[in-house]
Amino acid sequence: MRVDRFLSNLPQFSRQQVRLLLIEKRIRVDGRIVCDPHHEIRAFSRIECDDVLLQAGKPARYFMLHKPPGCVSATQDPEHPTVLDLLDEPDKQELHIAGRLDFNTSGLMLITNDGQWSRRLTQPQTKLPKVYYVETEQVIGQEYVSRFNKGVYFAYEDLTTQPAGLELLGPCSARLSIVEGRYHQVKRMFGYFNNKVVHLHRESIGPLLLDSQLAPGQYRPLSPQEVDLF
Ligand code: URA
Repeated sequence: MRVDRFLSNLPQFSRQQVRLLLIEKRIRVDGRIVCDPHHEIRAFSRIECDDVLLQAGKPARYFMLHKPPGCVSATQDPEHPTVLDLLDEPDKQELHIAGRLDFNTSGLMLITNDGQWSRRLTQPQTKLPKVYYVETEQVIGQEYVSRFNKGVYFAYEDLTTQPAGLELLGPCSARLSIVEGRYHQVKRMFGYFNNKVVHLHRESIGPLLLDSQLAPGQYRPLSPQEVDLF
């Protein structure tokens, strides 16, 4: 919402007063003077007029979770435990997942109540690399490298995947970096070669690596520096 609209919606200010308050530099958002009536504010913003608090601002919350296999990337599930069940936090209904993982996939998962932040992370235009450690049933051939780099055609969506980087680690293990998050993307890319993925683990999202101190099922808040990476 624009700051001028927020202020005009309050019973104590008329539109004319709002204009003046902004011009007279009496409005502060998160500690900074704001004069631009178009300045966007959020539920997380602290808003003051002179020294009077108009909105305290809801705390924004950001967590990194080591998702174990065997839990659902959803806020509710009738059958299985969900990733939110692993969090011991108040007001969990306000939290959502930034980038899902399949039931049996493990690894880095980000959870927040900040929709703008999670959108930046997940929207396809951001092209944020997601790195997965993969183990397969059959041997992974050298030809996979160029195929994944050129893209794999997905008939269902009628699209070719964006160039992906594949590093072979062993006969049946590799590290794959993809910039999209299509449905079962990694499994379907290996499926192109009829090679079943038997183990899948997300190691990183963009510059953020899964904390090696976190055992499967454990989580911790992100530091302000980690939040600012996105
Ligand atoms: N690709 C998949 O196939 N599964 C995941 O969980 C993530 C990426």
